Amino acid sequence: MTDRAHQRCTNPACKASYSIDEVRTSCAKCHALLDIIYDWDRLPVPKSMEFFEHRWSTKGAGGSGRLDFSGVWRFRELMPFYRHEDQIVTIGEGRTVLQQADLLARQMNMNPGRLFLQYEGLNPSGSFKDNGMTAAFTHARIVGAHRVACASTGNTSASLAMYAGLNEMTGVVFIGTGKISFGKLSQALDYGALTLQISGDFDACLRRVKEIADDPKMGIYLMNSVNPFRLEGQKSIMFRILEARDWNPPDWVIVPGGNLGNCSAFGKAFMELKELGLIEKVPRLAVINASGANTLNELFTRQNLRWNGGEVDCTKIGGLYAAMDESNYYPHTVASAIEISRPVNLPKALRALDYMNGVVREVTDDEILEHRALVARYGFGCEPASAASVAGLRKLQEEGIIDRDEEVVCILTGHELKDPNATVMYHTGVDMKSVQDMAPRSTPTGKIANRPIQVDDDLASIVKAMGGSV
Ligand code: F0G
Repeated sequence: MTDRAHQRCTNPACKASYSIDEVRTSCAKCHALLDIIYDWDRLPVPKSMEFFEHRWSTKGAGGSGRLDFSGVWRFRELMPFYRHEDQIVTIGEGRTVLQQADLLARQMNMNPGRLFLQYEGLNPSGSFKDNGMTAAFTHARIVGAHRVACASTGNTSASLAMYAGLNEMTGVVFIGTGKISFGKLSQALDYGALTLQISGDFDACLRRVKEIADDPKMGIYLMNSVNPFRLEGQKSIMFRILEARDWNPPDWVIVPGGNLGNCSAFGKAFMELKELGLIEKVPRLAVINASGANTLNELFTRQNLRWNGGEVDCTKIGGLYAAMDESNYYPHTVASAIEISRPVNLPKALRALDYMNGVVREVTDDEILEHRALVARYGFGCEPASAASVAGLRKLQEEGIIDRDEEVVCILTGHELKDPNATVMYHTGVDMKSVQDMAPRSTPTGKIANRPIQVDDDLASIVKAMGGSV
């Protein structure tokens, strides 16, 4: 099937093409991000979305049943980059459902039957990341990778560690010291990933892991969302929303924005569904930043940066980043999952916003925490970053951009138990974060304990901690 799919540079002026068997996270010629492109004319494309409905009855029934059981792979005809079905790595991720949230809707001044929550915290590792990891691990298996790595604010690392454990691959995760919530850290350790706590934030960790993955001697397969295969899997979040709504797109999809992989994947999903004639209407997209990590909102809303047919005005981006460097700015938000100031998928996110007639907003930490608690009060626990979507909805309603009668889907990206400290803090004022101090203690650890390794933000020290040399 490989000859019916390839990787292509997203820069319309370049469009360089690469085989599916290549491991790349950017274009060799112009360094732009890559897309997975399908030759749909030569692929068995369903004539309508109803095609996928029979998979509910064949799930788990042997053969392709394990794929039908997955909320990602039951839509495999819409992400056919693999050669054989037995290459697909899955543990039944994406079995999430769209929830009609009428009680929350009342609190949000919306009419009943208009507000829906896509509850991605129900994934095996507790966040939407599993949708993408299953696809990226499938590609990693196709190319014979053994060592996989990512930088993370926590959920990517938890998901990577889980799939690495399941596939007997070595997982290496780069996290900023004190920057990830306790639940997420516990997952990386428990699933056995080599956990490097770098003295820096997510942006520093991503720079380092990219540097290391770029060195072929290190043999590292990069699992961050610059990996175009990951975003293929994340398209399925949109397919499930459509499925739950009898294939009728809502008016709005609202999603928190961090590294901007998710919103980019949503845009690609709708571009392809429309191209294939499988849907008529494209919903509008709202991407919500935290005020303490608001790069997209600053560039899109305040500085009017646009996709512009692929000719993105990079001087605006460069100017903002230079100003951040000059003022020694670091992002800071209670929504640690989206505490990112240099989102790598920015151009793809601009393309999605362009295609989906999107808007961007930012919400304060107080707005995030109040809306997180409100969502929980009506039965849907989510971590702070997820609640940015609901807080963003409130803002867009107040501005008169979203009407109380429009159909809105907010993506709840991660489970509440990912960050119990945020919840306990909100309700009691007690901060449990001090337990994140991982200094060696005299307390004995377990027989297969996996202690995180504290490393300076320095290439040689990191490589040494990984047991290799450059
Ligand atoms: N919500 C949660 C719970 C997340 O973990 C993330 C990203 C986002 C939203 C933002 O998604 O990056 O696609 O815009 N977490 C990454 C991580 C960065 O490392 O776990 P995005």
